[in-house]
Amino acid sequence: MLAIKNLQLNSSGKLKHFLSIEGLDKSLLTEVLDTAESFADISEQRVKKIPLLRGKTIVNLFFENSTRTRATFELAASRLSADVLSMNIATSATSKGESLLDTIRNLEAMQVDMFVVRHSLSGAAHFMAEHAAPHISVINAGDGQHEHPTQAMLDMFTIRRVKQQFSGLRVAIVGDILHSRVARSQIHALNILGAQEVRVIAPKTLLPAQVESLGVTVYHDLAAGLKNIDVIIMLRLQKERMNSALLPSESEYFKCFGLSDDKLKCANKDAIVMHPGPINRGVEISSSVADGPQSVILQQVTNGIAVRMAVMSMTMHSNAGTE
Ligand code: NCD
Repeated sequence: MLAIKNLQLNSSGKLKHFLSIEGLDKSLLTEVLDTAESFADISEQRVKKIPLLRGKTIVNLFFENSTRTRATFELAASRLSADVLSMNIATSATSKGESLLDTIRNLEAMQVDMFVVRHSLSGAAHFMAEHAAPHISVINAGDGQHEHPTQAMLDMFTIRRVKQQFSGLRVAIVGDILHSRVARSQIHALNILGAQEVRVIAPKTLLPAQVESLGVTVYHDLAAGLKNIDVIIMLRLQKERMNSALLPSESEYFKCFGLSDDKLKCANKDAIVMHPGPINRGVEISSSVADGPQSVILQQVTNGIAVRMAVMSMTMHSNAGTE
């Protein structure tokens, strides 16, 4: 059988770009988690820096807004001692009509080593990886409704830190699965890492067609779907991606799919509550749950730095050697 070349890996099977969870295997995802573990302490030290990427230049190209993702990528790069250039493209060259390819070529002419890219079009990061100079690594920081692989890995890191392992775990992802690149990456990661069961809980209008083919079981009732669950991942309603009315109202949505203290009781006693942010209090999650003892939402943010340090150092090192 003809093997399809995975653009993410170099000829020795090492991570050259980080574009999607789909197509990676368990040992590589575990290597990301283990590498992140080795970086987690650096942020606790008085001097929060190691010289691993000294002399390297990383460009954050954000064609879409972001707070957490962009800030943690920036901090991760500077904790690895790289030089970082963060560009908000909404106010920059492409808004003057420059093509993505021309933006890439101009930045390459400045001898940069890595692009971290967020774009509203699915496939934008793959396009950049295909067209960038061979020494450049590309990291996907969220492309359209496709994938958000570093978010999924920081979520896996957070789960592993609390629950130790994936086997035997039942995870529920609740809310706007249809528009969520985060959910797509999480579903792949949980299945690859060997979770016992991945459930999606959502109204029919917020689920993609044939979602079961991703390896999930589907529930339309929150209380029933949370039974025996160890990890609950709540998602924001991505209203900016909805081009028609998919919901009656936010208060109706909260009544049916919002995580309140009462609904939380349907899951296992030691279940953790996660959310990639930004959270909308009173829409998908109540304040008492978001700020409560089972919530690990702010730990996810902290862990984002170590995981992004891991992905940056792994891709950069695989590029330095072979290709
Ligand atoms: C997510 C995103 O941008 O896809 N947020 C994030 O990266 N922390 C999810 C969202 O916007 O709801």
